[in-house]
Amino acid sequence: MNPERSEPHSQTLAGRVILITGATAGIGRSIALAMAQLGATTLLLGRDVQALERLYDEIVGRDWPEPGLIPFDLAQYDAQRLDELTAAITAQYGKLHGLIHNAAILGDRVPFEHYSATVWDRVIKTNFEAPTALTRALLPLLRIPEMSAMVFLSSSVGARPRAYWGAYAASKYALEGLAMLLSEELENTSNIRINVVNPGATRTGMRRAAYPAEDPSELRSPEALSELFTFLMAPDSGAKTGQRYQFDGSCEPLISA
Ligand SMILES: NC(=O)c1ccc[n+]([C@@H]2O[C@H](COP(=O)([O-])OP(=O)(O)OC[C@H]3O[C@@H](n4cnc5c(N)ncnc54)[C@H](OP(=O)(O)O)[C@@H]3O)[C@@H](O)[C@H]2O)c1
Repeated sequence: MNPERSEPHSQTLAGRVILITGATAGIGRSIALAMAQLGATTLLLGRDVQALERLYDEIVGRDWPEPGLIPFDLAQYDAQRLDELTAAITAQYGKLHGLIHNAAILGDRVPFEHYSATVWDRVIKTNFEAPTALTRALLPLLRIPEMSAMVFLSSSVGARPRAYWGAYAASKYALEGLAMLLSEELENTSNIRINVVNPGATRTGMRRAAYPAEDPSELRSPEALSELFTFLMAPDSGAKTGQRYQFDGSCEPLISA
């Protein structure tokens, strides 16, 4: 445990507006619930409208702040859709305190020479180009609060690409590069804290697809990550910018930028 870190209390994130991409399943869904429980207004971005509505019902049913729903397919983004999204958030909330780039797809795991160009492009668009464009569109809203935070979810292959991980590895490597350059550029010119989290092996659909022979009961649940994301999102947590968190259950930043 980081001794400098204060324990979260029930309303640590009260009044904060936090957008989570890929909120309909896995880690993103769990983050959204954890943020809402701590008082945040969550903006839930996903492409499965029914799953978004189920999550909305769950959050409202627990008397947590009413979330905003953003039906949005990151693989299909374009300038117009991003403008509409930014305008809608501006009109309804006026600012943004948090942006969690969680959504991703795995793609194929085959040798590069056999990798489908179509799948490659879809993975890069979803995992790297869309977060880049979303960041560009939403940065002005993140600059408004006294303190805001952005988190990019990466993977062990984002720090060190491995054979056969294809576009997924390339996209995460690029994403970490974007996060690190942004954290340097914005460190002295904004109050936006930017960090990378590699969640490690977590019991989700993506993990099941990547390692079908694995026993899921031996994996950490997505809920185990809640404390780390609360720490990274809370304005007064003392979290730094430009860190790479390689989650091992202890919530410590194992790798500093
Ligand atoms: N689980 C692990 O062990 C692990 C390990 C290392 C890194 N990670 C990273 O952690 C993050 C979350 O992974 P996860 O395991 O929770 O994955 P997951 O269970 O597959 O969930 C991914 C989420 O992203 C959404 N998504 C995918 N494509 C989208 C698109 N085009 N537009 C909008 N939303 C889209 C999915 O929605 P749909 O349901 O509609 O597809 C889903 O809500 C990812 O960035 C992943 O790379 C996970």
